Amino acid sequence: MEILVIGTGSIGERHVRCFLATNRAQIAIVEPNEQLRNTIRERYKLQHAWPTLDEALARHKFQAAVIATPAPLHIPIATRLAQAGVHVLIEKPLSVTLEGIPELQSILAEKKLTAVTAYVLRSYPVLAEMRQAIHEGRFGAPLQIVGVTGQNFPTYRPAYAKTYYASRASGGGAVQDAMTHLMNTAEWFGGPVTRLVADLDHKVLADVNVEDTVHVIARHGATMGLYSLNQHQSANEFTVTVICPKATVRLELHNNRWGWMEKPDSGWNYAPSTPLERDTAFSSQASAFMDSIEHAKAPRCSLAEGLQTLKVNRAILASVESGTWQTIQG
Ligand SMILES: NC(=O)c1ccc[n+]([C@@H]2O[C@H](COP(=O)([O-])OP(=O)(O)OC[C@H]3O[C@@H](n4cnc5c(N)ncnc54)[C@H](O)[C@@H]3O)[C@@H](O)[C@H]2O)c1
Repeated sequence: MEILVIGTGSIGERHVRCFLATNRAQIAIVEPNEQLRNTIRERYKLQHAWPTLDEALARHKFQAAVIATPAPLHIPIATRLAQAGVHVLIEKPLSVTLEGIPELQSILAEKKLTAVTAYVLRSYPVLAEMRQAIHEGRFGAPLQIVGVTGQNFPTYRPAYAKTYYASRASGGGAVQDAMTHLMNTAEWFGGPVTRLVADLDHKVLADVNVEDTVHVIARHGATMGLYSLNQHQSANEFTVTVICPKATVRLELHNNRWGWMEKPDSGWNYAPSTPLERDTAFSSQASAFMDSIEHAKAPRCSLAEGLQTLKVNRAILASVESGTWQTIQG
């Protein structure tokens, strides 16, 4: 499949590498930064690399594209691609506002194009297996979900203050950049968030004033949710506990395992798992995207699900602004 990767910064380069690793894709890129464009082109021996999307679309025909630019550009670029008949994989968060999304959806529907949101955690086998067990009804319908996550962001992204992360308008801050992974995971386990109230603060991260610590109390219909994230603690952990009538079920992403406990104090049972590199999840996401185009398979995270999580991001920020509960219309 001929695939155009748009934006080859931190995550765009990973998409280039991981799509190539599937052996199912030929990659070309759009990257306005000349030095970076040449580096990526040479590193991956790419035939085509353009500075603008218009040039790429004028010179070549693509079946699909990956949008890995900062979030405010996701919808305008996806709309331009959809108008040109190109299927799209759009990085998270889908956007920073709801602007232009209904128009994009109608072009996608009219041209029968696939659009997927790149919430890559859905491509981690431990998450997918735990979600399947819950959705098959093995433990009963979730009563409560508790998600707790944190990591020392500067350790993993030393230049964060010089990227889109530094402002909410460009898609930054903990809510839109990191918490959105946790909220999308919670929605995958427990269904869409219907109401929430939130608190957040800037506690530690130097050279930015966006929030780095977030708390959310939520409802997924009847299921209660409680979520916490910070971007400065030493431990790099991501845990989601789903309390069901027949068992307590827990994802420990940092240990690449999930388990369940059926009787009080009976100890955890862990499902078998195999070690996983981050690139493997991205290659799996790439293959699933191509399968959804070529074989009409359901996308791992549809545009509609990405839109729902965007509404959650917006509701968290609105709740903090107003100090009130927010209702999310589906
Ligand atoms: N799924 C994940 O785990 C994950 C991780 C990091 C970032 N992201 C998301 O990916 C997106 C990009 O993040 P990043 O960390 O790679 O940012 P980045 O700043 O490292 O890279 C963005 C790239 O987009 C390029 N760009 C800017 N305007 C462009 C345009 N008009 N056309 C083409 N390219 C353009 C920039 O030159 C830059 O190279 C963000 O939405 C971010 O939230 C996802």
